[in-house]
Amino acid sequence: MINIGIIGATGYTGLELVRLVQRHPAGQISFLSSRSQAGKLLSQVHPAGPPLPLIRPEDAPLDAVDVVFLCLPHAASIPAAVQALDAGARVIDLSADFRLRDPAVYAQWYGQAHAAPELLAEAVYGLTEYARDELPAARLVANPGCYPTTNLLALGPVLQAGAAAGTIIADAKSGVSGAGRTPKQHTHFVEVADNFSPYKIGRAHRHVPEIEQGLRRWQPDPPALIFAPHLLPVPRGILATIYVPLRPGWDEERLRAVYEQRYQDEPFVQVLPAGEVATLAHVNHTNRCVIGLTVTAGTLILTAALDNLVKGAAGQAVQNMNVMFGRPETEGLL
Ligand SMILES: NC(=O)c1ccc[n+]([C@@H]2O[C@H](COP(=O)([O-])OP(=O)(O)OC[C@H]3O[C@@H](n4cnc5c(N)ncnc54)[C@H](OP(=O)(O)O)[C@@H]3O)[C@@H](O)[C@H]2O)c1
Repeated sequence: MINIGIIGATGYTGLELVRLVQRHPAGQISFLSSRSQAGKLLSQVHPAGPPLPLIRPEDAPLDAVDVVFLCLPHAASIPAAVQALDAGARVIDLSADFRLRDPAVYAQWYGQAHAAPELLAEAVYGLTEYARDELPAARLVANPGCYPTTNLLALGPVLQAGAAAGTIIADAKSGVSGAGRTPKQHTHFVEVADNFSPYKIGRAHRHVPEIEQGLRRWQPDPPALIFAPHLLPVPRGILATIYVPLRPGWDEERLRAVYEQRYQDEPFVQVLPAGEVATLAHVNHTNRCVIGLTVTAGTLILTAALDNLVKGAAGQAVQNMNVMFGRPETEGLL
């Protein structure tokens, strides 16, 4: 069995993780912690949650677990990760705190110096489909963001093939749970319902440097990225439509062969048949990412969808745990 602790269990990703771990045949919840709700049962905080006790983070038996999942806001994850690692646990962090390798880039985008920069070089960026070799030995895994997972899974094959010729435009939409459970004015029901709005367009969203860092793994000097996120009036799901200008000689048939070959053995990434486009209905409440592709006017149009709380967060975290602990990768996720 894998003994599991979850810190920040009352948030949206925390609740999703608890539900996934509960049905995982090798996963055993040792503790769930919460700053604000300690002493209650999770079911008293989330009616759909199981009646498991929430303890204070400072009482968490970190030395009694194999892995700790951190479902905390950025910056809060850093001290929690250091404590868990010091206690001998492995850590899967769902926040952005260990995703960016360069502490200066972290400081620029997250507005404060990184409190444990020495851990950044060690952290494995857990985009599972591209990290399998590194995960089994990892002590610290940085679970990718939801928009980055969508964009990187969609863009990996075309970048690796060297077929992209110019600026990539990623037009992406997210359900409101992507913003977390803490109420904010722009995620208030009245602002979101019957509405549809872009936000942080251009080069303003914190996921931009994360996506760019991922693209550089495949191409040292990748094309520029224009990222346009939107808030969709639905609880969950991400859909990205991504435009990639192509080098001469690349048509749909050739690209489709590249995508099909890259993802044919992937249990959670599906390339859709010609003529089909990705939708939220393909993916919500699953750990899948679906990718559609079309070529028109020398441009590859990718459509990619996933559930931000599952493949974009808790599901990918469990997928990473499975690889880290030598379990079947799909265990508890199908
Ligand atoms: N939502 C998504 O789709 C998504 C996808 C990928 C990654 N992520 C990332 O995953 C992390 C968790 O996201 P979420 O959506 O689950 O957030 P959330 O719903 O806001 O929950 C975060 C939980 O962390 C605890 N917390 C809040 N502030 C804290 C602080 N300063 N120190 C310690 N604990 C604090 C809170 O619980 P208590 O106060 O009860 O302890 C809260 O329930 C974030 O870093 C987010 O960026 C989210």
